[in-house]
This record gives sequence, structure tokens and C-alpha cells, in this order.
Amino acid sequence: MSKPLPNASDFLPGPVLLLGAPGVGKGTQAKLLMEEFGIPQISTGDILRAIKNDPAKSKTQQGSTAKSLMEQGQLVPDALVNDLVKDRLAEPDTEHGYILDGFPRTLNQAEWLDGQLVAYLLPVVAVSLVVPQQKLLERITGRLICPVCGTIYNIYSEPPKAKGICDREGAKLIQRTDDTEEVFHERMKAFQKQTAPVIEYYRTHGNRFAEVDGDQSVEAVTHSIRTTLLKLRHHPESSE
Ligand code: AP5
Repeated sequence: MSKPLPNASDFLPGPVLLLGAPGVGKGTQAKLLMEEFGIPQISTGDILRAIKNDPAKSKTQQGSTAKSLMEQGQLVPDALVNDLVKDRLAEPDTEHGYILDGFPRTLNQAEWLDGQLVAYLLPVVAVSLVVPQQKLLERITGRLICPVCGTIYNIYSEPPKAKGICDREGAKLIQRTDDTEEVFHERMKAFQKQTAPVIEYYRTHGNRFAEVDGDQSVEAVTHSIRTTLLKLRHHPESSE
């Protein structure tokens, strides 16, 4: 009989990667897991958007490069993103683990991350969320975000109680400038060309990778990820 899994409260998450195409639910799930496990979400998309939307930083060469590429649905250069992740990983709240949401996205970033993690207490676990492509467009074009607390809504699947208003903050919800149908198709091209090989990299290196069906209710996806993480950390040999 296999050993029972520990309770989530006894769980040391270590570094967790949430991988997947635009709109699969990485940000939604990372925020829930962050609360549950008490570790930070590190979203390279959020970090880059903060630079893009900062009046001073957006005028620097890095800021204007990031803005232009993001608005076209293309990836920002590895060197810039790696530096941002390096700075964030140096902060003390990452000591017991963290959830990297949207990073790594290229093989170069994955190899760079391997080098950073050599000295870390636990190996990385990678979870790839999977949703049929035809459902992703509706997720992207229906997404609204609270500019104050970052809560993610969807006008079709996760609507706010009052139209266009955050349930928690009462703030007016906003739409990301890259959440248009045209830019979505460019983001999908970048995902297929540059990020799908990263998913294969984790699938074939080591035994701490799993796919999770992201085409379920938000709660059911969280439950699947939680169970998967506990298995990958404690019984990686039985996770296939
Ligand atoms: P980023 O912000 O990371 O965008 P993304 O990867 O395209 O992912 P999204 O944020 O669009 O989707 P998500 O998977 O987080 O889905 P969410 O939970 O919001 O990157 C933006 C840009 O920054 C990139 O294009 C690139 O330019 C740059 N960038 C970022 N990282 C980079 C890197 N490492 N290297 C280079 N460049 C980088 O959910 C989507 C919607 O679905 C929401 O409306 C939500 O409510 C809904 N939803 C979620 N779960 C469910 C569910 N189970 N059922 C129904 N609806 C659901």
C-alpha cells in the first residue's frame, strides 16, 4: 500500500512552475495556491506590466522594449526577464518556495533557472495546465481584472456580482491591452514556437512534471493541482 500524502498544511512547496498557454488559468490558480501554501506568486507578466505602466520605467529602453513586444504578443528578451526573476528570487519571502507563473517561457530561460536552483533546498516541480485551444479565446477576450487587488474575472465564466465592478474593492475593472483576438493569436504563436518546447523539457527531464486538466471549474482545477503537487513532492515515482 502506498504511503498516505501529508496534509497541505504540513507541505513544503519549494519552487513550483505553472506552465501553459495564454488563458489556461495560471494566474487564477497561482493566486489561490499562494493563499493556501503561504508562498508568493511570481508572475513575470505582472512584473513586466508594472514596468510598462510605470510612467518613469516605461520610458527607459527596457521599459519601451517590453511595452512594444507585449502589445504585439511577442516575448520580451530572455536577458531582461531573467534579471527581473533573479531580483525577485533574492527576496526573503521565497525561502520556503514560490510559484513561478509564466516563467520559464523559452528553453534559454529554463536552462538559466536550472542554474539558479542548484543551491535551492528542493528541486523544482512543474505543472502544465491544459485547456482546449478553442476555449482560450473566450477566456482571454472575456477577462477583466481589478486594478487595485488583481482579482481576475471573466464575463462568461467568473463574472463580478455587479457588471464591471470588483466584488472586493468596488473598483472599476479593466481589460488588458493584449487581450484582443488579434494579439491572442500572436501570443498563441509565441507559445507554440517558444514555450511548448519548455513543457517538453520538463516532461522529459526528471520525474517532477505533471499535466493538469484546466478545463474544469476553478475549484476543481485547484484541487487537481494541490493533489498533483503533494504527489510530485512526496511520491514523484507514482505521479505518472
Ligand atoms: P502573461 O501575463 O504571463 O500572459 P499569458 O501567459 O498569456 O497568460 P495569461 O495571463 O493571459 O493567462 P493565465 O494563464 O494567467 O490565465 P488567467 O488565470 O488570467 O504575459 C503577458 C506578456 O508578457 C507575454 O505575452 C510576453 O510579452 C510577456 N512575458 C511574460 N512572461 C514572459 C517571459 N517569461 N518571457 C518573455 N516574455 C514574457 O485566466 C484567464 C481567464 O480565464 C480569466 O478571465 C479567468 O477568470 C478565466 N478562468 C480561469 N480559470 C478558469 C476555469 N477553470 N474555468 C473558466 N474560466 C477560467
